[in-house]
Parts: sequence; structure tokens; C-alpha cells
Amino acid sequence: MIIAVGSDHAGYEGEARQYKPAVMEHLRALGYGVIDCGTDGPDSVDYPDFAAAVCNEILAGRAEAGVLICGTGIGMGIAANRRSGIRAAVCATPDMARLSREHNDANILCVGKRVLSLEQVLELLDIWLDTPFSGGERHCRRVQKMG
Ligand code: RB5
Repeated sequence: MIIAVGSDHAGYEGEARQYKPAVMEHLRALGYGVIDCGTDGPDSVDYPDFAAAVCNEILAGRAEAGVLICGTGIGMGIAANRRSGIRAAVCATPDMARLSREHNDANILCVGKRVLSLEQVLELLDIWLDTPFSGGERHCRRVQKMG
């Protein structure tokens, strides 16, 4: 499975382990293919550009899912959800990560560097990746209504 990963400068904030490279490394260690959609460092950039890059990979079929990182996850979520066929979930708890897959069939996980520790982000990512869409009739109907 191929996963597209993008962030703004928040993915490269701080002296300690930076979130975007850590997320990509984590995914590769688990055996996932990774498409790096940038950014590549701490210089200030605009999150919609990187949300668009990850959405493009998914909508073109080059990636099955995506991870987006910004300060809160919110800007990335707003930007990504403007695209038809994208279901981007801003998650901050394990239950949100699980339910975004089970009920919403989320295809992008959005997380915030400034609101979650790296350990929390990786925990959410593992849950999100390991949880299938329930496929329940009511959930399929609701997802289809979103286009
Ligand atoms: C950038 O400073 C910050 O606004 C961005 O990372 C994100 O949190 C927006 O939602």
C-alpha cells in the first residue's frame, strides 16, 4: 500500500525528532510505500499547497491513502476536504482515528504537530492504518452522499 505524506513547516518544527520525517520513516518501517509530497524543511510555506499535492496522488490512484501534518491538522483538513473523493479526518484521539476509518472511510489522516506529541501521532497513525472501513450499509450510504 502506498501512502502520500505532506506537511507544512510544522512538520519540521523543533530540535527534536521532526514529525514529517518521523512519520515517513515509521511508515517505511511498517512496509508501506511512501510518496513524499513535501515540504522539505522548516521554511514557512502554505498548507493548502501540500494538501493539494497529497490529494492529487490519491485522486490519480498513485496512493491509496494520505497523511497530512500542520500545526493543528485543521488547515490541512479544510483544504483537503474541498476535493471530491477526499475524506480527510482531523484526529486527536485514538477513538477519532478508529472511527474515522470505521464510519467515515477516511482516506487522509490529518494531525497537528502543535497539539499532539510524536508518540501520540504515531499511535493514531497505527490505529488508523489497522482499522478497516466497516462497510455497514448506513455508513456506505452516508459516504456515498458526500461524493
Ligand atoms: C502555520 O503556522 C499554521 O497556521 C498551520 O500549520 C496550521 O496549523 C493551519 O491550520
